[in-house]
Amino acid sequence: MKSDQPILYMDHAATSWPKPDPVWGAMEKAMREEGANPGRGGHTMAVRAGKRLMRARMALAELFHVRNPMDIAFMLNTTMALNTALHGFIEAGDHIITTSVEHNSVSRPLESLKIEKNITVTVIETDESGRLDLDVLEKAFTPRTRLVVCNHSSNVLGSILPVDQITKLAHDKGAKVLVDAAQSAGLLPIDVEQMEVDMLAFPGHKGLLGPSGTGGLYIHPELELRPLMQGGTGSHSDSVYHPTTRPDCYEAGTPNTIGIAGLEAGVRFLLHETVENFYTKEWALTQRILCGLQGIKGIRWLGPEIGQARTGIVSFHSEHMDAAACAFRLDREYGIAVRAGYHCSPLAHRTAGTLKEGAVRVSVGWNTTEQQVDDVLEAIEHISKKG
Ligand SMILES: Cc1ncc(COP(=O)(O)O)c(C=O)c1O
Repeated sequence: MKSDQPILYMDHAATSWPKPDPVWGAMEKAMREEGANPGRGGHTMAVRAGKRLMRARMALAELFHVRNPMDIAFMLNTTMALNTALHGFIEAGDHIITTSVEHNSVSRPLESLKIEKNITVTVIETDESGRLDLDVLEKAFTPRTRLVVCNHSSNVLGSILPVDQITKLAHDKGAKVLVDAAQSAGLLPIDVEQMEVDMLAFPGHKGLLGPSGTGGLYIHPELELRPLMQGGTGSHSDSVYHPTTRPDCYEAGTPNTIGIAGLEAGVRFLLHETVENFYTKEWALTQRILCGLQGIKGIRWLGPEIGQARTGIVSFHSEHMDAAACAFRLDREYGIAVRAGYHCSPLAHRTAGTLKEGAVRVSVGWNTTEQQVDDVLEAIEHISKKG
């Protein structure tokens, strides 16, 4: 790749790039004018920074239909949100249900909690394309089941789980539901009230178009979690005991104000452009990719078939090409950024039958064009012909 060749970015599932202009602007403004520590001190700039956080919380509440913005706590990423929820909710001896298409940010804490808290975990196998059989799920509940944790969309397959049906089933059985919205926030409509979601872990840096180091956790007002971290919150400063008020109790330490300013701008951009428009556009692009891949010999894509719902992810593997070598050549010879390997989701690869070799993941985003998709398809075809 020549050093002046523009990068064709097809790795939005890892993090979105570039961010819309208002995100850059908001971060610069926050850095210049609101750089004080929010909630710590009553001087003008600290108050300004505090207001910025509140505005961001309100924008997120609007997006996810959260009644009280204080039920959203800022996190550094989805992983931190998932860990806060899992470690804060799960008790010794609990039975937890999850699926065979989860990211390591769910699977690893659960494995660790098996040892730390003697929990039991049932992993519901989806079919190869990521489809979940609700009858199988229903049979998995036991009197000890306290939580179902699942993604809204798989980061390998692009498949979508029926969250509203899962929450209904879980609530009938007296269990709560934690949703990993890493790949759906900003792309699929999420209404936590209507969908009866108990906890929603989401990134700020992917579909919400904010910068790295941003994310959040919605916690239903009737749920109380043990905080993952304790320390300074700016509130109840006279006490050595960690506060129980929201959202402070989940946000110990100085927050990422500059990043959150960018996140707010990303969410407002999204609210203006609408989640529905982004989904329609990204879905059409994935269909274009699938149709193109269909014509390339030896390639099998993972996840839903053509015409079915999926998020902006298409992973594929080729009989003739090693996934890592393909991604390397796309980068070096064509300037195309994709991700190869296991995508931190060995379970999903096992489900798809690609645990041995992994796959190449092409993921589109808010600014991807049809021409870019065609360029990627052409490059994949060249590489597979040259072998
Ligand atoms: C489904 C899923 N869950 C969790 C994560 C972890 O997200 P983060 O990088 O924001 O911690 C990812 C990241 O790609 C993901 O795709």
